[in-house]
Amino acid sequence: MWLNIKSFEEYQQTFRESEKDRLRFWEHEAGTFYWRKRWENTQSGSFEDANIKWFEGGKLNITENALDRHLNTIGNKTAFIFEPNHPDSFRRTITYKQLHEDVCRFANVLESKGIKKGDRVVIYMAMTPELVISALACARIGAVHSIVFAGFSAQALSERINDCDAKMLITNDGLRRGDKHVPLKDISDEALESSPSVESVIVCQRTNRDIDWKEGRDEWWHMLIRNASKDHEAVEMDAEDPLFILYTSGSTGKPKGVVHTCGGYMVYTSYSFRQVFQVGADDVYWCTADAGWITGHSYIIYGPLFNGATGIIFEGTPTYPDAGRLWEVVEKYKVTHFYTAPTAIRALMSYDLDYVKKYDLSSLKVLGTVGEPINEEAWHWYHDHIGGGKCPIVDTWWQTETGGIMISPMAGITPTKPGYATLPLPGVFPTLMDENGDEIEGNAVEGNLCIKHPWPGIARTVYGDHDRYIQTYLSTYEGYYFTGDGCKRDEDGYYRITGRVDDVLNVSGHRLGTAEIENALDEHPKVVETAVVGYPHDVKGQGVYAFMICDEEIKDPEEFKKELLNLVTKIISPIAKPDKIQIVSGLPKTRSGKIMRRILRKVAAEDLDNLGDTSTLLDPSVVEDIKNGKAY
Ligand code: WT7
Repeated sequence: MWLNIKSFEEYQQTFRESEKDRLRFWEHEAGTFYWRKRWENTQSGSFEDANIKWFEGGKLNITENALDRHLNTIGNKTAFIFEPNHPDSFRRTITYKQLHEDVCRFANVLESKGIKKGDRVVIYMAMTPELVISALACARIGAVHSIVFAGFSAQALSERINDCDAKMLITNDGLRRGDKHVPLKDISDEALESSPSVESVIVCQRTNRDIDWKEGRDEWWHMLIRNASKDHEAVEMDAEDPLFILYTSGSTGKPKGVVHTCGGYMVYTSYSFRQVFQVGADDVYWCTADAGWITGHSYIIYGPLFNGATGIIFEGTPTYPDAGRLWEVVEKYKVTHFYTAPTAIRALMSYDLDYVKKYDLSSLKVLGTVGEPINEEAWHWYHDHIGGGKCPIVDTWWQTETGGIMISPMAGITPTKPGYATLPLPGVFPTLMDENGDEIEGNAVEGNLCIKHPWPGIARTVYGDHDRYIQTYLSTYEGYYFTGDGCKRDEDGYYRITGRVDDVLNVSGHRLGTAEIENALDEHPKVVETAVVGYPHDVKGQGVYAFMICDEEIKDPEEFKKELLNLVTKIISPIAKPDKIQIVSGLPKTRSGKIMRRILRKVAAEDLDNLGDTSTLLDPSVVEDIKNGKAY
């Protein structure tokens, strides 16, 4: 068994050993951390009983493993390079020692504001070091952080605060992303009008614009940390105490608060980061995600810090001030490991290659992708033009719920194939299921992707709704974790994710529930009923297509579309805005009233010739109408 796998043979052997003795494998891995008290029970519970626990009885604080543990060895090493939105703005580097001090200071601030172990703290911030410090300070005192992506609306923020009953909100006065300004404090104020649980708000200065102030509730970050001590004794946590809640979309209803716990998440993110990226002591690793998504949690904040890596916190966007921005940053910091989403690659491919050629990208060693299937064209562009034909691409498949990467090449070790997430990490046991709920044996097959055995990083519950957790992940196939993805296993046993098989959309790598968008659109007074589906989109991967019945004739459809987009922006976020709207006289429903989305998906994809069997529809004639309709 190899802790640091360095060859494909070692991978294969380690995988086999993890198969033979799963628990021993994870004990070995967990043994590399600092535990205040060693765990008693490596793993208990089962998928059948939905009560999985790892390293029970173990006592730790995850920030001691991310920070304190490194102070004597790499205290002066850079933990983070902060690169601001505008290349000419102030940039800085933070060493492990400084980060430790900042986290301790802010942990003391949180405690002075009455935040205790188990309290929920919502973080709604720009991509700056203070976001990371906020999350780690929560972890240090045992408060449960819930980071909400700073592109969400007031209503979406308020819903999340209310769902987890948060006591505190940490935000900025505002942020700049590209040439846009987002007034985070104004949005927070609006959200808090309907979120009474929040007692205090800490505001970190970023844009220096005028904001409203509520005395007694709001306080400035910089005033609070001024006199806070840089020493803080981390609060002892049980391995199974919650670390954070992260909201994500499902196929039905409102977003789910996915709960991750301290011990298992620590072991799994650290392990997967190390094996997949193979980051060396002097390397510079850059994950371009936002910390508001799981990728940012696991592979900007936690995974790299456990491993003592140097990471980049990037506040900007790939196309500001121009489409060479990412490559400028790669050159500037001699980035060795670069991890981004296919949607960013596809967006940048559409610009002149001169934006790439202008920069020296020879420092790059490893490229990564995450969030959605990568098409071959994008894979080759990335490989040839960014990687100079010499960097392995790790196509990492995983989910908010898995905590960390599950199926992925290990950089430079696993032979890659464009479009393939390739093979599971040792300790991860995927399987494909057929429509009868049986495992599909052999290769060159396709089915629904499930995982056979618990792994340490699996989410333990949906906050406040354990039934929904069971329903979503553990009931479709009894005794298995169901991912919601379709998947192929080719003749070499390589896995290729084909996309969601449920009503979840993946738009630019962002996960959106069709039901959520439908509910938002239905709020428009003229809308009677909506059905939202995804369709292939060149840059976004999937676009959002909304079919809707209205109760009056729409005289100005362009204006109407604008109103609908504003509505979605207000209720959810601009990322959920439909690309196309089609007004229809009826939706294709079965006799039991269920919308046949299969037909709508085909129409949206302009695949009109083979709509399949429509005979079970209540009124098959609506299909002709829909086919002949026009989208705006
Ligand atoms: C869904 C999870 C995991 C971090 C970002 C997204 C899709 C994720 C890949 C990949 C094909 C992928 C799946 C999955 N997905 N990575 N490498 N190839 N599809 O996290 O928002 O929880 O979404 O993203 O459909 O179920 P998420």
